[in-house]
Amino acid sequence: MYTTDEKLYKKRREFLKLGTAVMLSPALIATKLNALNFIPTTQTQHKITDEKLATSYVNFYEFSTNKKEALKYAQNFSTQNWKIELSGELEKPLTLSMQDILKFQLEERIYRFRCVETWSMIVPWVGFELRKLIEFAKPTNEAKFVKFTTLLDKSQFPDQNALFPTLDYPYIEALRLDEAMHPLTLIALGMYKKPLKAQNGAPLRLVVPWKYGFKSIKSIVKIEFTKTRPQTTWELANPSEYGFYANVNPTVSHPRWSQANERALGELFTKPTLMFNGYEKEVASIYDGLDLRVNF
Ligand code: MTE
Repeated sequence: MYTTDEKLYKKRREFLKLGTAVMLSPALIATKLNALNFIPTTQTQHKITDEKLATSYVNFYEFSTNKKEALKYAQNFSTQNWKIELSGELEKPLTLSMQDILKFQLEERIYRFRCVETWSMIVPWVGFELRKLIEFAKPTNEAKFVKFTTLLDKSQFPDQNALFPTLDYPYIEALRLDEAMHPLTLIALGMYKKPLKAQNGAPLRLVVPWKYGFKSIKSIVKIEFTKTRPQTTWELANPSEYGFYANVNPTVSHPRWSQANERALGELFTKPTLMFNGYEKEVASIYDGLDLRVNF
């Protein structure tokens, strides 16, 4: 009989062994995720959203603004030879493969997720704290913001190839360095104990649970460390509707609708939206002194 510690040690070794494989297929990622000991660290009192809903009711404009179409186009998405470039205010720039990324110890986090469109869900993500990647990348003292960029690939993303694309691509998001270093901020590689599906941002995405969903950028290829605040896609598209901070705030309405309530996917009735999406205790102090109405 193994003791728990031995079991964990074995699992860790299995994980490391898998890390040396040359090719990364979704099947291999699945094996890695299965080999891990999942530690649900953040519990919520609500029930987890049905997996089918969370993986089909999606926003991924590069595929399509229409949720059904997005799901359809995502089926052929290839993440082969995916690389993540880290640059800017770093000791030295680096490029990581998915094999490198999979060396970070993965864990499960059950988070609330609130879209600016007023729907919400509760998802068991698989990933690791972004701060671990940041510590590994070693930013300089000049780094104040972290900028994320989604893949630009007109052959795979129909909306990027459109005559009049919906957004100014590539999709860009950013966080203050302290937000990026917050222990709740996750790089997700999976959901529901499986690798991320293309429509949810494969092979890796950001998850910032106290902010509106559009901050949680999908299919990341570049992470840059900057001195000044980057311009982000939605802020550029419509600054009066989408602020840089985008902290979930039931008291600040979107110009065209209220943010006071939300409807969980799969549920009939709405319920009140919580300040910072319920993570007030964990994050409110990092915004001390900031006027959340001006910095919405
Ligand atoms: N990332 C990219 N690259 N493109 C997008 O269109 N949509 C955002 C965010 N990340 C989006 C994106 C929005 S508006 C939301 S609500 C979430 O992804 C949705 O995540 P989900 O589809 O996995 O629920």
